[in-house]
Amino acid sequence: MKQLIALDINDQIYEVPVDPWDLLSDVIRKKVRLTGTKKGCEQGDCGACTVLINGQAVLSCLTLAIACQGKKITTIEGLAEQDGRLHPIQQSFVDYGAVQCGFCTSGMILSSKALLDSNPKPGREEIKRALSGNLCRCTGYKKIIEAVEVASETMSKEGVK
Ligand code: FES
Ligand code: FES
Repeated sequence: MKQLIALDINDQIYEVPVDPWDLLSDVIRKKVRLTGTKKGCEQGDCGACTVLINGQAVLSCLTLAIACQGKKITTIEGLAEQDGRLHPIQQSFVDYGAVQCGFCTSGMILSSKALLDSNPKPGREEIKRALSGNLCRCTGYKKIIEAVEVASETMSKEGVK
């Protein structure tokens, strides 16, 4: 039987009917209609479905929606400013050619955000480790790592979280 739950996504409360087994990735995409969160493998291998829960990078395809009540969920749609200005991580992904087909991009950016929030000046190895659960079949990763390095500098310089 469906149950009405309240989810805090990008600082907005969404009331959605869910079954106990509904996955967060499906609820975000199909019920809340935020389709920036992608579904690739649906078994925890690719990282495309990564969102932030209370600031931590989490695989939404392995997370039950019902377990997310009372937590702060951030999807890629929650990163840009209200006026449409991109977050520095998004901007550097664009500027440094870290986006090709874009399927991995939401997950890559949210994993990068979790990293930079906890470690504002990571070394290259720390970036690689933080993104090791996010697969990209297009870019070869080099440009993604460069983009995170540049975003780290920009965020520190501009005092952006
Ligand atoms: S869709 Fe969740 S890890 Fe691949
Ligand atoms: S840009 Fe295509 S999978 Fe990463």
